[in-house]
Amino acid sequence: MGKTQQHRIVCNVLVIGTGAAGIRAAIAADEAGCDVVLVGKRTRSDPHTVLAAGGINAALGTVDPQDSWEQHYVDTMREGYGLGDPRAVELLARESPDAVRELESWGCPFARTVEGKLDQRFFGAHKYRRTCYAGDYTGRAIVRTLVSRLMQTDVAVVEQMYIAELLVRDGRCFGAVGFDLSTGDQTVFCADAVVLAGGGHTRIWRRSSSRRDENTGDAMALAFRAGCSLGDMELVQFHPTGMVAPEEWAGTLVTEAVRGEGGYLTNSNGERFMERYDAKRMELSTRDRVALANYSEILAGRGGPHGGVFLDISHRPKDFIIKKLPRMYRQFLESQMLDISRSPMEVAPTAHYSMGGVVVSAETHATDVDGLFAAGEATCGVHGANRLGGNSLAETLVFGRRAGEAAARLSIETDAQVRDRNSIRSALDRLSDVIRPGSEMARPLQRAIRDLMWEHCGVVRSEEPIRAGLTKLASIAATVDQVDVRPSSEGYQDLGVALDLRGSIIAAEATLRSALERRESRGAHQRTDHPGVLGSGQNTRVKSTPDGGMDIQSVPVPKATEGLPDWEAGDELLVTGRLLE
Ligand code: FUM
Repeated sequence: MGKTQQHRIVCNVLVIGTGAAGIRAAIAADEAGCDVVLVGKRTRSDPHTVLAAGGINAALGTVDPQDSWEQHYVDTMREGYGLGDPRAVELLARESPDAVRELESWGCPFARTVEGKLDQRFFGAHKYRRTCYAGDYTGRAIVRTLVSRLMQTDVAVVEQMYIAELLVRDGRCFGAVGFDLSTGDQTVFCADAVVLAGGGHTRIWRRSSSRRDENTGDAMALAFRAGCSLGDMELVQFHPTGMVAPEEWAGTLVTEAVRGEGGYLTNSNGERFMERYDAKRMELSTRDRVALANYSEILAGRGGPHGGVFLDISHRPKDFIIKKLPRMYRQFLESQMLDISRSPMEVAPTAHYSMGGVVVSAETHATDVDGLFAAGEATCGVHGANRLGGNSLAETLVFGRRAGEAAARLSIETDAQVRDRNSIRSALDRLSDVIRPGSEMARPLQRAIRDLMWEHCGVVRSEEPIRAGLTKLASIAATVDQVDVRPSSEGYQDLGVALDLRGSIIAAEATLRSALERRESRGAHQRTDHPGVLGSGQNTRVKSTPDGGMDIQSVPVPKATEGLPDWEAGDELLVTGRLLE
């Protein structure tokens, strides 16, 4: 490999992450008149957002006119078991209709009703049809639309750029240090404000709907090392329906839209078992309930040949399936030669979405480090203990825009850009220092983390296994300095994997410690040793300690502002928190 070079890029707003939240933030900061740089590890047309399938929520009432933002607020608070930040949920519910209309005006090819209105489908636990969609490739359609809008702005996009460290001086973030995954060239980005939109940590579980090398927890670790708090890290959504075979496809998402379009679940006895778990809402119950139902059926020995349950849409006409679920139709043909218009799919829970993440303020998505904002799956606040399907795409747009606008405001108000030569030098030295020969390889260690998280902190948890998981994690962490990292014919991918590993260790430790701290069963966090629910609930917080450790606390959920609907009222209240029998 040739000698690497160093570059410096100076801008007003640096956005890290080229998914929907990052692109939306960049567009907003550009519109506010800032000089914006958007960096991502992947190409701008292929961020993780393209995997989002079934839709985006907005209380437009196009199909069910009774719908309202208030009802969207109530559904989100209630199904999040009261742990969502009420102001963030309010903003999501109020502002997602405009966000969707804006995307529509930018050319997003949403499905339409025969009258030409935006169509809305049912997703689990929504009172009304509220989920706008483009077939079962909504995320891809949204990314294409955002990218084409982005191309009309002056935002500079830097792809294949791995951000290794955020630059902080005296509690103020002033940029980041990264390297090019092909050439290894290092770049120092200096900015008045930074928006972190680098995704979640669900790839640290063995079965995950994320692809290789994404959602490794690196964004959360970047923020944590910069001084941010992490919140509700234990609240990880297991999507009920991931593929189980072949092994290289295991975990891949089978969209909830299959159930939204009438698909149902059965076990190996042919029983439609959701009758026993939520007879009213059946397959369109909340994700935590359906995931636990699938898990319980499999554990009870009523699973199929690959250890899954069956999801069947074959009663629907083939043309209907190809129109509404084209990607699912192709996915099963490609991977298993299975025609889902004739045969059921075999599915099982898969780690799907980080409901916890970097702690941010609801309005601006400012973190507790000055100059640093965060948006999208990297953050916590909206989803509580169980996310409603379709709320994540809405979150990326609403809070991506808000974070981008707030970062731009800060930049405009900043007289002189903070920089610190020593911080930059030390960050570059730390990055270079990771490249060296060693006795360990990063990928097997990543695999070991994925196995331990699945076994010790999966769908169902309890204290002893979590503690054993922490012990295993400590022994993995003790080897990171011996990881062999060197440039190869692939460039500097190994360096990225080694840094991902370091990020995953932080994310995994924060998750395990928070899972220990939450001594109750609520939503996606089910503890066999604590099956009850503790009062109205608290949020967990993880902060770094001066000796490099983690301090875990439970804090009250922010109070709802006056005038918001009372989500606890009503005879349909299902917030027991307790799913385990
Ligand atoms: O099942 C799905 O299509 C996933 C949607 C979501 O996570 O919001």
